[in-house]
Amino acid sequence: MKKSEADLILKNEVPWLYSKKVKEHFFNPKNFMKPSEEKKFKYNAYGEAGSAVCGDLMKFWLWIDQKTEKIKKARWRTFGCGSAIASTSMLSVMITEKGGMPLTKAQKIKPQDIMKRLGGLPIIKIHCSVLGDEALRAAIKDYERQKNEKNKNRQK
Ligand code: FES
Repeated sequence: MKKSEADLILKNEVPWLYSKKVKEHFFNPKNFMKPSEEKKFKYNAYGEAGSAVCGDLMKFWLWIDQKTEKIKKARWRTFGCGSAIASTSMLSVMITEKGGMPLTKAQKIKPQDIMKRLGGLPIIKIHCSVLGDEALRAAIKDYERQKNEKNKNRQK
């Protein structure tokens, strides 16, 4: 009887398709919003995104320094798979490391940038990394919308 691909992976006869970095972020996700933390976490931007491919959902909270417009803190939570967890964990590190990423740069992050830092993802899992990226952009949009409203009110 011919062995399935899953059998081969489980018996270590072919390498697991996930990189060491993916496993690291999946088993120890960074900046994950714990339910106990949600009410206490101070944020000024929120966004969410859903995947039409698998029906999973991603939520993103940001604390943005209003003077520098750099992302100082990020939290996220997903009802997605391990690839979504690992890629969003990596994304949250990328936007908050080195003193925080400016919004203009964060807006331009692509799933390929996240995958590069993760050492790749199986092709069938690429849509999972898009989820975090879209929720991040939705949160940045939320921040810009609030900023425009404040500016309009000041002009009145
Ligand atoms: Fe839905 Fe990965 S399969 S996020």
